[in-house]
Amino acid sequence: MVATTKTQEAAGRDGWSSRSGFILAAIGAAVGLGNLVRFPAEAAANGGGAFVLFYIFCIALIGLPVLLSETLIGRHGQASATRSVERMAAESGASKAWTGLAGLGVLSAFMILAFYCVIGGWVLYYVGIFVGDLFTSGVTGGALAGMSASDIESIFPTLLEQGGMMSILDAVFVAITLYFVARGVSGGIEKASVVLMPAFFLLLIGITVYGAFTGAFTETLAFLFSFDFTRLTGPVMLAAVGQAFFSLSLGVAGMITYGSYVARDVNLAKTSTTIALADTSVALIAGLCIFPIVLAAGLSSEGGMGLMFATLPHSFQSMPAGSVIGLAFFVMVGFAALTSSVSLMEVPTAWAVDRFGFARPIAAGTVAALALILGVASAYSFNALNDFHPLGFIPLFAGENLFTALDSVTAKLFMPIGALLTTIFVGWIAERRMIDAENGLRGGLDRFWFFLVRWLCPAALAAILIVGIFPDILGT
Ligand code: PFF
Repeated sequence: MVATTKTQEAAGRDGWSSRSGFILAAIGAAVGLGNLVRFPAEAAANGGGAFVLFYIFCIALIGLPVLLSETLIGRHGQASATRSVERMAAESGASKAWTGLAGLGVLSAFMILAFYCVIGGWVLYYVGIFVGDLFTSGVTGGALAGMSASDIESIFPTLLEQGGMMSILDAVFVAITLYFVARGVSGGIEKASVVLMPAFFLLLIGITVYGAFTGAFTETLAFLFSFDFTRLTGPVMLAAVGQAFFSLSLGVAGMITYGSYVARDVNLAKTSTTIALADTSVALIAGLCIFPIVLAAGLSSEGGMGLMFATLPHSFQSMPAGSVIGLAFFVMVGFAALTSSVSLMEVPTAWAVDRFGFARPIAAGTVAALALILGVASAYSFNALNDFHPLGFIPLFAGENLFTALDSVTAKLFMPIGALLTTIFVGWIAERRMIDAENGLRGGLDRFWFFLVRWLCPAALAAILIVGIFPDILGT
């Protein structure tokens, strides 16, 4: 009886048109600025090879089990994230309060969307710079011809001073994201992913191969893959777990939402493994793409946003065909950021459609408008609103402006809490037969996965949360 109702509902609901459509969309959600900026920076800052190896371990033993947990909740529920959790809880005889885990995810996704699109706007700005540069510097020479090092390095801080410019770019990036989300799952999100993700991979491989020949590739290998295990300390390990979660887009109900559009005959264990493998490969390749270029230019590999928006543009100056590579690079980053922002906008959109019965374009438009308002306010954090500390009353976030607060609150608090609740829900609360019917695993592998979801994942997530809230514990 239950199954019939669900099939009927699913029949009238938009969903991925194929298994590969889902895989590409989910890889698109996972692969983003986290892989291209954050992973190389964290690897460099945390001891290279030891961090990388531990990161891969975290993806396999913690990230992958949670990814499968999220997608199976969605596929079972065949509805928005909150309703999917509500259904599974109701069918397990558990409290409706579990819906809160997905509600928190919807809020997190909205908050991340707001500042992620501001960064997307910066990427658009650099695409514009490199398009213009093709005309001034030409195709074969280095990029940004005639500009001094300090001129180039000041492009980024100058942009951060221009609240109006950042707002316009933010609006453009939000509008492009909205265009795809408003068109629906198969007709918008999937169509964008099946074009943008292969294009992204081609650009990434192309630039990496080019950089390997023209840049400092051997130096990069030594830098990224030197296994100095003495550097694998507590804070480094926690940085790796946190990065694994951010990179796989876990804890924000995004993968529950994407899982709800998956057809019944798809094996979720296999697709989750493919998604995690692809995301990890992109992170590793991003390191092999970025560092040869930066190191060949003799610049510092120091991380953060400066690596992408100041150091790299500078590095393209001394690179043969630097303008073309610079343009290709920022177009590639734009594609990765767009498929992630689409996934972020989809979460509150699906929720609003389900909760209020809005038509999809209205729901997506409302989410976009609200995200733009919050995004514009956060863009002014770099200038006019620099001294506005919205969470000044909470010691952990006291020094944060609106932009950094949106990032910190979600990364240090909401995402780990969301993921922790998900593992407790799947490992302890939901009825085992529902889980087994969805997860596509059997025998020993099934038992091993369930053990990870029940014990290892909650323990690791609790550790991230505690250290995130009380950083002094590990002396970080
Ligand atoms: N996984 C994305 C990245 O690595 O850039 C970031 C992200 C996207 C986090 C979507 C969460 C999310 F829902």
